[in-house]
Amino acid sequence: KRMKRFILDTDPGIYDALTILYALASPEVKMEAITVVNGNCPMEQGVINALSVLELAGAVHIPVAKGMDKPLLLPVVNAEVTHGKNGLGYAELPAPRTSPVKEHAVELIHELVMQDPGQINIVAIGPLTNIAMAVRLYPQIVGAVEHIYIMGGAINHCGNMTPLAEFNIYCDPHAASIVFHSGIPFTLVPLDVTYQTLMTAEDLRRFEAIKTPLSDFIVKASRYVMEYLSESQEIMGCALNDPLALAALFKKDLLEISPLVLDVDTNYGVSMGKTFADFYNYEQKPANGDAALDVKARDFVDHFLERMIKLSQ
Ligand code: RIB
Ligand code: CA
Repeated sequence: KRMKRFILDTDPGIYDALTILYALASPEVKMEAITVVNGNCPMEQGVINALSVLELAGAVHIPVAKGMDKPLLLPVVNAEVTHGKNGLGYAELPAPRTSPVKEHAVELIHELVMQDPGQINIVAIGPLTNIAMAVRLYPQIVGAVEHIYIMGGAINHCGNMTPLAEFNIYCDPHAASIVFHSGIPFTLVPLDVTYQTLMTAEDLRRFEAIKTPLSDFIVKASRYVMEYLSESQEIMGCALNDPLALAALFKKDLLEISPLVLDVDTNYGVSMGKTFADFYNYEQKPANGDAALDVKARDFVDHFLERMIKLSQ
């Protein structure tokens, strides 16, 4: 079966770092590049984190590009409380020896997508600022991107940044609106499914026994966010938010995906960043995207663990 090629657009962050490793552990996919956006941590820190995780995994051949360092309209929001000062929790990686490429993330997305029209997917696991800018600057990518898989939103689930909004969308709801209405085929992987896929403390103990730099990284990074989730939202485990969005690219059998009329609230108010589906199609509109609303959660976690344990040995 043909490898699925994709660009990872990300705000690394702990879940994001796990996704970079999961991509390297999965022969079904080819990560062509990493484009960084402001989100969990400032964009510059995200670039350092992406470079150092690639170095840790011996994958420095993958280009990393600097992207948008603030949302389209809103002030910068970060998530130090969730991901720690450096964005990787308790993990401390040596400063990377490699540098980002000179092209801006938006330029790199345009270049890679237009080089092989219909062949390149985007897995967007941070705020959608880079993708929105790419759509506005290079509208021709709309017909050339194979599919965008977005970790973001909460449909029938409460928010994790406000009572209603999920962090990636909340950070830049205007960018999300541009992407949702761009015409690019997309699949939303919201908290409805990602909060079901929990890597538990018992799962994490399996990595403790491996004692390699990679397994130690996974333990130290994951433990930080697991403590945050249990203290702040009584979630017992590390929600595999970002890795599940990558799984939507090549393990669709684990997800229940439906075409829906999807939208996001961009108004400055209590529900800013809330994503919603018009399930009864009151406005008689065609579906503009897909959303994953259910998942074989434990099957995914077991698959993820098997890949990550193999990679970190
Ligand atoms: O709400 C969870 C999402 O926001 C994840 O992608 C996390 O990394 C943050 O970007
Ligand atoms: Ca992320």
